[in-house]
Amino acid sequence: MTKQRKLYIKTYGCQMNVYDSERMAEAMGPGGYTQTDTPEDADLILLNTCHIREKAAEKVYSELGRLKGLKKDNPDLKIGVAGCVAQAEGAEIMARAPMVDLVVGPQSYHNLPALEAKARGGKRALDTEFPTEDKFEHLPARTARGPKARRAPAAFLTVQEGCDKFCAFCVVPYTRGAEVSRPVGRVLSEAEDLVSRGVREITLLGQNVNAYHGADGQQSWGLARLVRRLAEIDGLERIRFTTSHPNDMDDDLIAAHGDCPKLMPYLHLPVQSGSDRILKRMNRKHTAAEYIALIDRIRAARPDILISGDFIVGFPEETEQDFEDTMELVRQIRYGQAFSFKYSARPGTPAAERIDVDPVQADARLQRLQALLREQQTEIQQEMVGREVNVLFEKPGRMAGQMVGKSDYLHAVHVETDAEIGTIARVRITASGPNSLAGEIVDNSA
Ligand code: 5AD
Ligand code: SF4
Repeated sequence: MTKQRKLYIKTYGCQMNVYDSERMAEAMGPGGYTQTDTPEDADLILLNTCHIREKAAEKVYSELGRLKGLKKDNPDLKIGVAGCVAQAEGAEIMARAPMVDLVVGPQSYHNLPALEAKARGGKRALDTEFPTEDKFEHLPARTARGPKARRAPAAFLTVQEGCDKFCAFCVVPYTRGAEVSRPVGRVLSEAEDLVSRGVREITLLGQNVNAYHGADGQQSWGLARLVRRLAEIDGLERIRFTTSHPNDMDDDLIAAHGDCPKLMPYLHLPVQSGSDRILKRMNRKHTAAEYIALIDRIRAARPDILISGDFIVGFPEETEQDFEDTMELVRQIRYGQAFSFKYSARPGTPAAERIDVDPVQADARLQRLQALLREQQTEIQQEMVGREVNVLFEKPGRMAGQMVGKSDYLHAVHVETDAEIGTIARVRITASGPNSLAGEIVDNSA
C-alpha cells in the first residue's frame, strides 16, 4: 500500500502559479499525497515561486529560512522550490539553501513524482529543462482536484504559456520560455471535465492568453473561436481570460465581447505606461493613442465592460513628463481595477542595463498613480450601487447567513442569503465598501 503523506504548497505570484499548484497537487496524489494547510503537518513542502519583481524573489529565501526549523522536528520532511525562481536561479538555490531537497521549473511539473522519489532516496534533485513535450499531457486529469478546489465553482485553466514579446523589463520570456498554446481538444476536454465537477466559471490563463493559437488538426484556432466553442458547453455559465497584450486583441475577440453573453464584461489589458517614449523603450510595440483607440473599440462592442490594467512607474529614463502622460492616459481610460508597480531591474533583461530613476522620485510617482487609480476604482464601485448584477456564490461570508461571490464585473459581493455555493443569483447592489460590494437578492435563479 502507498504510504499516506501530506503536501503543503505555498503559492506566490500570478494566477498561473495558482493553477500550476493545483496540478502539482494532483500529480502527487497517486503517490499517496493529500494536501494540508499546515506546514507543520507536511512531509513535503513546495514553494511555488514568482520571479517577476525582485521583492517577489526575495520572499523565497526568507520563507526557506523560516521552514528550516521544521526539518529538525520532522527528519522525513522534504522541501522543494518550484516556479519561476526555481527556473531562473535553480543552481543558486541549491548552493545557498542546503535544506532544499528538490528544485523544479514550471515546464517540468510532470516530473515532480520522480524528483520527490529521488529526494526521498537521499539525493538532491533538480529539473529546470524546457522539454519539447507538453507537460500538461503528462499530468493526471482534473479528477484529482484537491479538497480545497473540489467545491470551488470557479476554476482556472491554462491554455497558453510563455511569451515571445520580450518587453524590456520582463523575465517571463526567460523563465516560462517561448509561447506555446495547448491543442483545442485538450482544452475542451479539461473544461468539460471541470464543468462535470460543478465548475460554472472558467478563467482561461496564459502569460499572453490572447495570442492563443491552439491546434485543431490542421487548423489553428484563435482565442475568440475557443471562447465561442467553450460557451457551447452546457453548465458553463461564465468565461474570462487573462492576461492579454493590446497588440493581440483581434477583431474577433473584440466582437466576442459584444456577442458572446458567457464572456464576462471584464478585461485585463495592461498598458504599463502612457508615454510613447517609454512604451518604445519598453518594447511594447504600440503607442498610447493606439491603446486608447483599442479600448474605445472594445467599449463600442461592450459598453459596460470593466477595464483593468498593469502599470510600471520609474522605468529607466522615465521623466516627470513621461509620468504625467501615464496619469493622463489613466484619466482618459478610467480603470475599474489596476495593479501598479515600481520598476524592479531583473537580471538578464535589456532594461536591467539602463540607468534607474531616483527611487525617491519613483516612490512619489507610484503613490500619485495609486491614489488616482484608487479614486477611479472607488467611483466605479459606487456607480454600481442601485444596479442589478449576477453573482456566482463562491464561499460563506465572515458573518453568519452571508455568502460571498463575484459579480460579472469581478467585484466581490457580500449577500445575506442561504443560497448554495455554485449558484448564480440576480443581486441588487446596496452599498460599496473599500474592497467589496454588498447586495440583496432580487432573483435566486438568475
Ligand atoms: N518591474 C516592475 N514590474 C514588472 N512587471 C513585470 N516585470 C516587472 C519589472 N521588472 C509587472 C508588469 C506586468 C505585471 C505582471 O508585472 O506590469 O504586467
Ligand atoms: Fe512580460 Fe507580458 Fe511583456 Fe510578455 S507581454 S514580456 S509576459 S510583460
